[in-house]
Amino acid sequence: MKPEPIPVDRESEVQILATLGELMGSSMPFQEVITMAMRFTSAMMGADGSSLLLLDRKDGNLSFYIVLGEKAEQLRNITLVQGEGIAGYVAATGVPMVVSDVTREHHFSQRVDQATGFKTRSIACVPLRVRDELKGVIEVVSKRVGSFSDKDLDMLTAIAGPVAIMIDHARLINEVKSLHDKLEKAGRIKAEFLATMTHELRTPINIIIGNLDILLGGFLGELNNRQKESLKTAMRNSGEALNLVTSLLDLSRIEAGQVVVRVEEFSLEDVWKELEMLFRTGLSGKEVALCWQVKTPLPGLKTDKIKIKEILSNIVLNAVKFTDRGTIEVSVSSVEGGEQIEIEVKDTGVGIPEDFLPFIFEPFRQAEGSFTRSHGGVGLGLSIAKRLLNLLHGRVAVESEVGKGSTFRITIPIKYSA
Ligand SMILES: Nc1ncnc2c1ncn2[C@@H]1O[C@H](COP(=O)(O)OP(=O)(O)OP(=O)(O)O)[C@@H](O)[C@H]1O
Ligand SMILES: [Mg+2]
Repeated sequence: MKPEPIPVDRESEVQILATLGELMGSSMPFQEVITMAMRFTSAMMGADGSSLLLLDRKDGNLSFYIVLGEKAEQLRNITLVQGEGIAGYVAATGVPMVVSDVTREHHFSQRVDQATGFKTRSIACVPLRVRDELKGVIEVVSKRVGSFSDKDLDMLTAIAGPVAIMIDHARLINEVKSLHDKLEKAGRIKAEFLATMTHELRTPINIIIGNLDILLGGFLGELNNRQKESLKTAMRNSGEALNLVTSLLDLSRIEAGQVVVRVEEFSLEDVWKELEMLFRTGLSGKEVALCWQVKTPLPGLKTDKIKIKEILSNIVLNAVKFTDRGTIEVSVSSVEGGEQIEIEVKDTGVGIPEDFLPFIFEPFRQAEGSFTRSHGGVGLGLSIAKRLLNLLHGRVAVESEVGKGSTFRITIPIKYSA
């Protein structure tokens, strides 16, 4: 049975555009919105079928993207070569076209009808354009002669604008997505490469250090003072190179997703004492008082002990490095109803300039100035600490004032959950 056309007038056009506008604002995928718009439009025109063909920019071919009506399935695999049929002609000229009787139109191609068995008699076809660039065409077909009027063509043209924009958006979204996937893959490959490289570099550096040790120990013969000094310089620099490579290895392993959380039950008090000893020794020779305290009774922890040690070490090490006089207060307390522990590291050191604060957790970032540089390091400690903290679902906050000191406050859940 032939579909009865709904009378088309200005109001129908406005109605279609209003519906389309509403659909575009919804959360429906673009393809569904376009399909609904086409279904609605072709119903109003009393068409037997409608399709949206997309232009391939490389070869100028048109392929069926959305097809509605009787022979929809067969049409999906058909491609029109450049200029073929009414759709090809409209794509080539960019001019909308109504064909009342295809038997009298020499641009009409029989090929599609022969492939599908459909008997096209009349067609209306409009180009899809965005900013003067052709994206494809929309066409409606009927088995009856003279089905479409110029008014129908106006209606089809009215939906072509927004539909073309949606097609373009969909293409842009796909491009961005594929770019994002490529970047993510490139990032992973880079991190894996860096992890392998740094790992490989550690072996020769360790061999150099081992041999310098043998020489300095006098095992291969007595050394004069100048030789000793020279070897000590080599030893110091090799040590720095090893530290750098080790930090780089840590960072790249985290970035490559190669670092796993190893959960164990432990009491923080033991770790706390161990670290206190370490840092007291590190401070000897400086006019800095170290105040290391446990403020509240601590709950047992069930998380990654080694990582907590590493996070804390990096932050306290900075406090020690950037404080020449005054105090460093390191305290731990149980907070948030015993769900989290909070560790505060407060120093009276050089402080961090306000405009540099947002960057301290980025790799290789160090505050400008000879002071920082004279204190060595490469600027990886905090970026590693922050990433490890993320792995344990912890967070860190920093307050600092130049010349007065800095306070780092880290909060970590007492029980790790993935
Ligand atoms: N307690 C602090 N007082 C003053 N500045 C700090 C403090 N902690 C960090 N900073 C600033 O943040 C920068 C980054 O710190 P980070 O620990 O990442 O690197 P680093 O200590 O310079 O080198 P590395 O840790 O790799 O040996 C430091 O160079 C310094 O400028
Ligand atoms: Mg550091």
